[in-house]
Amino acid sequence: MKLSKIAQRAGTETAFEVLARAKELERRGKEIIHFEIGEPDFDTPQNIKIAGIKAITDNFTHYAPTQGIYELRESVADYISKTRRISVNPEEVIITPGGKDVIFSAALSLLDEGDEALYPNPGYPIYESAIRLTGATPVPIPLLEENDFAFDVNYFRKLITDRTKLIIINSPGNPTGGILSKEALEAISEVAIERDILVLSDEIYSRIIYDGEFFSIASLPGMQERTIILDGFSKTYAMTGWRLGYAVANRDIIEGLKKIAVNSFSCVATFVQMAGIEALTGPQDEVERMRKEYETRRNLIIEGLNKIPGFSTKVPRGAFYAFPNIKKTGMKSKELADYLMNEGGVATLSGTSFGAYGEGYLRFSYATSQEKIKEGLEKVRVAIEKIIK
Ligand SMILES: Cc1ncc(COP(=O)(O)O)c(C=O)c1O
Repeated sequence: MKLSKIAQRAGTETAFEVLARAKELERRGKEIIHFEIGEPDFDTPQNIKIAGIKAITDNFTHYAPTQGIYELRESVADYISKTRRISVNPEEVIITPGGKDVIFSAALSLLDEGDEALYPNPGYPIYESAIRLTGATPVPIPLLEENDFAFDVNYFRKLITDRTKLIIINSPGNPTGGILSKEALEAISEVAIERDILVLSDEIYSRIIYDGEFFSIASLPGMQERTIILDGFSKTYAMTGWRLGYAVANRDIIEGLKKIAVNSFSCVATFVQMAGIEALTGPQDEVERMRKEYETRRNLIIEGLNKIPGFSTKVPRGAFYAFPNIKKTGMKSKELADYLMNEGGVATLSGTSFGAYGEGYLRFSYATSQEKIKEGLEKVRVAIEKIIK
């Protein structure tokens, strides 16, 4: 059987494949420390779980409008208005099964063959995949260590052509933990306005930041109408398995996203949406507790990684990923990730899972306990010392 050209063009998210391989090794009795999957190890806060259970018993088990339950869209509109200092109304919000869907639906509803879309590389792999499957051309914006994994604005300007339809940005970023400065965002916005380009701003890690305050490109003058904000509940509220996210954009874009939604998922599970209202409007102390714990873990893992021969790691400023440079080990990223998994019992991701510019790096997700981080680092050290002295 031959799959369609679209399916053939689609990429993947390696984290899920590596997780499956690690689970298989565990099933065969090997002990594995997990640094591969970008998912909080915390449980969803109790108040949110109770709201979800109550919603089921209150029979929020029917279809909901494709765009999402009005009260949840209202809560999202209030939250985004407050945190991004813009004015959003519920008609400018669509509720999606995870933030990931926003990337897919935005690509499908905005891009055509012949269009070009810029995306960060190394970056979340679904950007390149989603652009490619529409038939548009993905154009990587290299995020280089020497620029602290932020944009080289001059280089970025050179990538813009008459065909550029969309610029995807992600700050704080996966896999580097880098943050785009206000100056970089201003430079992007200047280009976007001048050349009439849309921006998809992936803000899924906006609440996991270690210094300074989060700043959205949508807050800059003239940008709200041309920005699609992607955010969600997976990372902030440890709700990965609930599948709940959203997009905020102008009404024309929302109509496009809605068209894709009604053709694919119809609506997000109604009781999940009810739990989302509690997440946004209920107490936020758990969010801060988790953020503080990630910060402690970040400091622990960076200190540990920098003691491993052949590794050097910049301090990430947000998200929960460390992205060590491993060039001095003399191994390629994929080769080293496989070696650490099979010989060291440590699951990490090759930097190349995030694009060609990830060669020379590994990604460690530190959304795992301090004990596991210490244990995992020790295993990495022992495995690396076997190959380099
Ligand atoms: C940068 C980025 N965007 C979006 C997502 C999607 O998250 P979800 O679909 O769980 O909301 C992820 C998940 O890893 C991510 O790292």
